[in-house]
Amino acid sequence: MTRVALVGAGVVGSSWSLVFARAGLDVVVHDSDPASAGRVIDYVRSALDDPEALKFASADDRETILARLKVASSLEDALAGADYIQESAPERLDIKKDLYKRLDVLAHPNAILASSTSGLPASSFTEGLKHRHRCLVVHPINPPHLVPLVEIVPASWTAPDIVDRATALMGEVGQSPIRLTREINGFVVNRLQSAILGEAFRLVEDGVCDADAVDRAVSDGLGLRWFFMGPFETIDLNAKNGIAEYCRNLGPMYFDLAKEQADPRPWGAKLVERIERVLRQKVPERELANRRSWRDSYIALLRSIKLTTRSK
Ligand SMILES: NC(=O)c1ccc[n+]([C@@H]2O[C@H](COP(=O)([O-])OP(=O)(O)OC[C@H]3O[C@@H](n4cnc5c(N)ncnc54)[C@H](O)[C@@H]3O)[C@@H](O)[C@H]2O)c1
Repeated sequence: MTRVALVGAGVVGSSWSLVFARAGLDVVVHDSDPASAGRVIDYVRSALDDPEALKFASADDRETILARLKVASSLEDALAGADYIQESAPERLDIKKDLYKRLDVLAHPNAILASSTSGLPASSFTEGLKHRHRCLVVHPINPPHLVPLVEIVPASWTAPDIVDRATALMGEVGQSPIRLTREINGFVVNRLQSAILGEAFRLVEDGVCDADAVDRAVSDGLGLRWFFMGPFETIDLNAKNGIAEYCRNLGPMYFDLAKEQADPRPWGAKLVERIERVLRQKVPERELANRRSWRDSYIALLRSIKLTTRSK
């Protein structure tokens, strides 16, 4: 059985602990700030209070899942016997570089070193390491115990069997891994999100519509399909004979639109203020934490719908 060490127990590390523990794995959590590591148990306890969250947790009850979690005060203790290490330290190159020097020495040579980094390629903090072949990015979407997608991004020196093992483990613990063949800025998810956000800001800046209209174009429009199928599957069903017909009919229109969108713009402060005013009318600042909890419950509910309808 795989034993997991989690290094860094903030927003993402806490959620990872639930992913692995509910899948039946022993998890040791370490954070350089002992108070953060201690809060993980409370986080998991309260996340499991949501009855929808337990539905992804096999048949195990809350106490069984919690019993699999341990906190280690030292990095050495956390890594002892671990064969998969998920690092979720802050997104700072200097911190990751220092940490990986220690991980390289302390972790068993066969252990996988996976980073949650949102944007740093593994090659930027593992270059000089003796065992750099076992390092790669396993990038979650927050919070990973509710959102299953993970991006598996190898450096040029990551061994293929490490990529295979990390991908297999993610599947075993109920995540949905996608493999990239190489490092690229933004990986896949943030590249897609960047394209949408760039256009969303442009539409508001040019006065075509307001922020609420953009949000509803996705939440009441595109997003309903995207909840269960991707953009290629979507267009495949939007022409009688499938994707090739769709591309023949509408490819030229999209090409013209892409030319209009080709000139990227910074998100200026005044524009951001304008959009923020619309959003704060809907959810005041003091309500943001509650709104996040509402989002998480909603995602949990949608996932359970997905799990029950997938087999049909
Ligand atoms: N927050 C997100 O939405 C999100 C999503 C996907 C990926 N990520 C990535 O996950 C990583 C962590 O992000 P986060 O949002 O959880 O950050 P965070 O600031 O909430 O947590 C980082 C934790 O790491 C601890 N830490 C600092 N130095 C350490 C060290 N040397 N050893 C062990 N622990 C250390 C800190 O005490 C803190 O608890 C980043 O690389 C980030 O890019 C974040």
